[in-house]
Amino acid sequence: MKFTVAIDGPAAAGKGTISRAVAARFGFEHLDTGLLYRAVGMKGGDPVLAAQGLTSADLSRDDLRSLEAGQAASQVAVLPDVRAALTEFQRSFARRKGGAVLDGRDIGTVICPQAEVKLFVTASAEIRARRRWLELGGEAAEEAFEVVLAQVRERDDRDMNRADAPMRPAADAVMVDTSDMSIEDAVAFAVATVSARL
Ligand code: CDP
Repeated sequence: MKFTVAIDGPAAAGKGTISRAVAARFGFEHLDTGLLYRAVGMKGGDPVLAAQGLTSADLSRDDLRSLEAGQAASQVAVLPDVRAALTEFQRSFARRKGGAVLDGRDIGTVICPQAEVKLFVTASAEIRARRRWLELGGEAAEEAFEVVLAQVRERDDRDMNRADAPMRPAADAVMVDTSDMSIEDAVAFAVATVSARL
């Protein structure tokens, strides 16, 4: 069976947790497409060559979740040739047998416009920045909350306003605002949405 769940939205909205939970619940494979852009951003050198020659070693670096990698990712993600180099891998992952969940910014709009389920997960910038800051260690984090909030806003702005594959909900995406939702409720909503289409 081929079945694609596309989960898009801005940083720290809850995409990753929801995607992993949906994949585990239905036995689908999960691809965090942000990691591809993070790996390209952190590789250095020509980003187009980095995207064309991405290896599994590049994808297993232990600094890909850092704030620096997030910023580097959103800078290389504006380049159409970088996006093009990563498209085929994502599309074939999406159509693998047994079902797939992909999370990112343009999965429902560009990578898999035919996805059986599309979710667009959001939350206010303050709430998303607080979640990311807590993930980084909260009071013990190297970065102040205000720095994380400024970076979240900067990345949102770059992701929404780029010319190629800007972040936006597909016309047929189901919107999920997790600002006032527990993660359990958000996961339950996503699971129910997928169940209804299976
Ligand atoms: O985890 P978080 O939401 O903070 O970020 P991510 O999903 O790892 O994505 C990092 C950056 O990669 C984003 O800010 C986008 O600029 C870019 N990205 C993209 O352009 N398209 C995707 N499908 C996934 C990520």
